[in-house]
Amino acid sequence: MPKQKEYKKIEEADVHFFGSFLKEEQLLQSEEQKQEYDHDYTEDLHFLPEIVLIPYSIEEISKITAYCNENKIPLTVRGAGTGLSGGALPIMGGVTLSMHKMNRLLEIDHENFQATVEPGMITQEFQEAVAKEGLYYPPDPASRGSCFIGGNLAENSGGPRAVKYGVTKDFVLNLEVVLADGSVIWTGANVLKNATGLNITQLMIGSEGTLGIITKVVFRLLALPKYDRLLLAPFKKAEDACDIVAKIFHLGITPSALEFMERDALDFAQRYIPGIEVAIEDDIEAHLLIEVDGNDPDQLNAEAEKIYELVTTYDTGEILFAESEAEKERLWKLRRSLGEAVKVNSIYKEEDTVVKRAELPKLLKGVKEIGEKYGFRSVCYGHAGDGNLHVNILKGDLSDEFWQEGLKQPIREIFELCKKLGGTISGEHGIGLVQKEFMDVVFSETEIELQKKIKAVFDPNGILNPGKVFD
Ligand code: LAC
Ligand code: ZN
Repeated sequence: MPKQKEYKKIEEADVHFFGSFLKEEQLLQSEEQKQEYDHDYTEDLHFLPEIVLIPYSIEEISKITAYCNENKIPLTVRGAGTGLSGGALPIMGGVTLSMHKMNRLLEIDHENFQATVEPGMITQEFQEAVAKEGLYYPPDPASRGSCFIGGNLAENSGGPRAVKYGVTKDFVLNLEVVLADGSVIWTGANVLKNATGLNITQLMIGSEGTLGIITKVVFRLLALPKYDRLLLAPFKKAEDACDIVAKIFHLGITPSALEFMERDALDFAQRYIPGIEVAIEDDIEAHLLIEVDGNDPDQLNAEAEKIYELVTTYDTGEILFAESEAEKERLWKLRRSLGEAVKVNSIYKEEDTVVKRAELPKLLKGVKEIGEKYGFRSVCYGHAGDGNLHVNILKGDLSDEFWQEGLKQPIREIFELCKKLGGTISGEHGIGLVQKEFMDVVFSETEIELQKKIKAVFDPNGILNPGKVFD
């Protein structure tokens, strides 16, 4: 792998080359234009690309990539910039490749429950397009209204419905990918079973733009479930809200969402996001948002009833059943806006912890203990059914020095706790820039070396999203 100093800076001749096949509007060079692309949703980090290129076709991507590879110019692919681990930040400058014009839904193969889509399509628009045909694409990150399919693949995004249906990787059958040298490959086949050679499809997913550039995705889809039931359960003890999670599955029910929300997260959301008010009693520490879905309304009522009964064995406030579609939408809006609300409230760092589901109470307790020991406040919410807790550490009035350096030790302790509880350091936000220094918590040197060797096979010159996942 080349060191940072070996990368070439973009010069007039490079711009001239890009301009020989791209229109003026596809090539952004002014400071002001580039600033739009210098950040994602991670903390308050900014890295200015040297140039932003906006491809309209695979041929253009192929030419750009081959040129960057030959000339050792860093190439960072960018979706909508909603990432939470710094994956889209061009930390070594070079080219930022913005995929927002590669956004077509190419085919819905209704007969086979499949769809082929370009990576720049907004996730929610894709979901809505297939839903019109009675089909279902479940992965729904909180940012689904703006995030792109390509970014979801890069980070292997999850979201609330993962608990029943799985994450992005579970819906991908085949990928078209531009490799570092500009050649174009398909990774698999458009079939539901495939035992043919190494699984490059799954290797690409979650590789954060470090192995190749995804240009087409073939998804498998499901039939859209007809009905759902949604309830909001307030708990007087946050640990109880975590404790009940595994027990719900033991009822023989797989909820289609099982989301944990600490009180502070809800309070921030109500303060900063209009139209999502819910009454919360003073003695409530956390809520669970629980959804069941399916095609048999009576069965769903029975499942909701069973969950309700189990919830009432804990010390809770009044449980709210969403009565209308509008009420469901409001509760989901509340849940989806937590990330934004925490961000508006204060500079924060988010740790995307994940443990075995039944270990969630120990994780929450441990996180709070570590916070007390080191003097920081955390707000937690996340996908409890997956054991996936987003731990948001608030800057508040912590010193800049503690924020930059001092927090490394407690974060390491949180991740060590995850490992001890059978988990790992990211469930769905990826490693990107901000978590790479903690990879050694969960991987041995041998394991990291193996990953680096695979990276070197795909990207021998180290031009694809350099400085991410590992050094
Ligand atoms: C969420 C994002 C932050 O769960 O993953 O809201
Ligand atoms: Zn999440």
